[in-house]
Amino acid sequence: MKEMIDVMITEAAIQKRIEELAEEISHDYHGLTLSLICVLKGGVIFLSDLSRKLAVDVEMDFMDVSSYGSDTVSSGIVRIDKDLARPITGKHVLLIEDILDTGQTLSRLIRHLTAQNPASLKVCTLLDKPERRVAQDVVPEYIGFTIPDNFVVGYGLDYAQKYRQLPYIGAVRFEK
Ligand code: PRP
Repeated sequence: MKEMIDVMITEAAIQKRIEELAEEISHDYHGLTLSLICVLKGGVIFLSDLSRKLAVDVEMDFMDVSSYGSDTVSSGIVRIDKDLARPITGKHVLLIEDILDTGQTLSRLIRHLTAQNPASLKVCTLLDKPERRVAQDVVPEYIGFTIPDNFVVGYGLDYAQKYRQLPYIGAVRFEK
């Protein structure tokens, strides 16, 4: 089977929404230094574009996690493969994700980061798939687009590690 990609959210729509989010975030954190924590690998393109539109001082750090279980339905076990390089105690932290799906990744990360007593901890996700949510405790402050339960790629998101570099979000369709 070959996969075909249908454009779902255009490059222009993504960039416009990022400008809106950046304005809102810059307003909310006015006068503060914001610690952006990117969840690898998918979040890196969003972090890169969003951070360059922010009008506040930012610091950046990265975490990498992996989920166990079958390929599409997460088992809920999330292992931290790479932790922060610097502590976040007393800092204003914004977690940057490409997609919030079952919520299990962010739920685990929020528990892990809260233990360090940041001054604040919020979530910014480009995409939200609320239909798939399992972890009800994850409520993102900033959402780019709410999408239906399609298999999406591009703008950081992969299918078998491919398509992360696409400048748009595409829905994957399989053809014989
Ligand atoms: C994706 C995405 C989130 C997570 C969301 O990462 O980047 O981190 O899944 O899913 P959840 O809400 O069901 O936990 P993935 O494990 O595909 O890793 P990648 O970013 O390195 O591709």
